[in-house]
Amino acid sequence: MYELVKLLHLAAAIVWLGGMTFMLFALRPAAALALEGQPRARLMVAVWQRFFAAAAVSVLVLFFSGMNLYTTAFRAVKAATGAGSVPLGWNLMLGIGLLMFAVFGHIYFAGFARFKRRVAAAEWTQAAQSAALIQKLVMLNFALGWLAIAAVRLVR
Ligand code: HEM
Repeated sequence: MYELVKLLHLAAAIVWLGGMTFMLFALRPAAALALEGQPRARLMVAVWQRFFAAAAVSVLVLFFSGMNLYTTAFRAVKAATGAGSVPLGWNLMLGIGLLMFAVFGHIYFAGFARFKRRVAAAEWTQAAQSAALIQKLVMLNFALGWLAIAAVRLVR
């Protein structure tokens, strides 16, 4: 069961981080080259609508599977040794993971909502500012995601 939950956790991380890789390094630069501001903004509304829905599912799966892995191992160590402990890297993943979820919530409920409103109102300059902020926050989560994985793999 533990291995199955870990596989689910890994799958959700791949979906989220893979999506961010594609968005940051392929879609956004290509759209900036090929499209004018207005069609590009409309494209990004349609793209982000879909991608953020998939990312929201990943966030839920990562949270519940991550907490399950963490508490299962913590309890097993406690039952075996009398004192519960987990590697520092796991606590780093928990902390960084919670930070990533908060950043994602901000992107989705504040940044993206504002971007959609501005595109719908044809406020193109402000829409571009919102898109730039979303881009920065996704970049932040991308870096944090890899930091969390490095921590869980490398820090004992
Ligand atoms: C509440 C947040 C999180 C918690 C409590 C958590 C917990 C854990 C734990 C306990 C493990 C180690 C399992 C083991 O080695 O047996 C793990 C592994 C992993 N986590 Fe998380 N995690 C969280 C968030 C995240 C996030 C946000 C990502 C990436 C976007 C992520 C990606 C991974 C990956 C890729 C592994 C597998 C590493 C390996 O193969 O050894 N986790 N997580």
